[in-house]
Amino acid sequence: MINYNNSEFLLSAAGSGQFLRGGGFPTIAIAGRSNVGKSSVINSLVRRKNFARTSAQPGKTAHVNYFKVDETFYLADLPGYGYAKVSKSEKERWARLMESFFAESGLITAGILIVDARHKPTGDDVTMCNWFKGTGVPLLAVANKLDKLKKSEIEPNLKRIEDTLNLVLTQLLPYSAETNYNRDKLEESIAGLLQTA
Ligand code: GTP
Ligand code: MG
Repeated sequence: MINYNNSEFLLSAAGSGQFLRGGGFPTIAIAGRSNVGKSSVINSLVRRKNFARTSAQPGKTAHVNYFKVDETFYLADLPGYGYAKVSKSEKERWARLMESFFAESGLITAGILIVDARHKPTGDDVTMCNWFKGTGVPLLAVANKLDKLKKSEIEPNLKRIEDTLNLVLTQLLPYSAETNYNRDKLEESIAGLLQTA
C-alpha cells in the first residue's frame, strides 16, 4: 500500500532543462484544463488541503510541478490549459513547454487526464488526450467535480466524455476532489498504472 501522506514537493520546472530525468522512480503526469481540479485531486490523494497549490487565480505562469509520493513514484502536475485570459505569449510558452515535455521519451510512465464531469471535453482536452495516447504510456481519465452533477446527469455525461475523448481501452473514473468520492478507486487505478508501466 502506498502511504500518500508521505509525499513531498520536489521542484517546479519552468523549462525542459529542469524536467525530472533518471530520478529512480516512475513518473505519473497529471494534466487538465485550468481550474479542472488537478491540484485538488492531488491534495485529495495526499490528504492535505494545501499540498499542491489550488489556485484562486488560474493561468499563472506555466510550470511542471513535481512531487514525490512515498518513495514510490513521482507525480508531475502539468500546467493547465484553456484559460481564456492568458496572453498570447503565455500560451506560446505553455505550448513550447508541453511540446518539449511530450516529445521527449522516458519522462512519463503513465498519464492521468482530468476533465470536468459536467462538460463535454474541449478541443484542448482532446488534444491533450491524444498527446498522452501518442506516448504509448497507460492512461487514466478522471471526470472530476462529480459532486456538481445531479444523479440523472452522471451516466450521460460520462458517456459523452468517453465518446468525445474516444476512450476505448482507457478507464474513465468519476471523481470528486471535494468529497473524495472514489479516492480508493483512484488509488487502485494508480497502483494498476504503476504495475503495467
Ligand atoms: P490550475 O492549476 O490553475 O490549472 O487549476 P487546477 O486544475 O489545479 O484546479 P484547482 O485544483 O486549483 O481547483 C480549481 C477550483 O475548483 C478550486 O476552487 C477548487 O476548490 C475547485 N474544485 C476542484 N475539484 C473540485 C471538485 O471535485 N468538486 C468541486 N465542487 N470543486 C472542485
Ligand atoms: Mg493547479
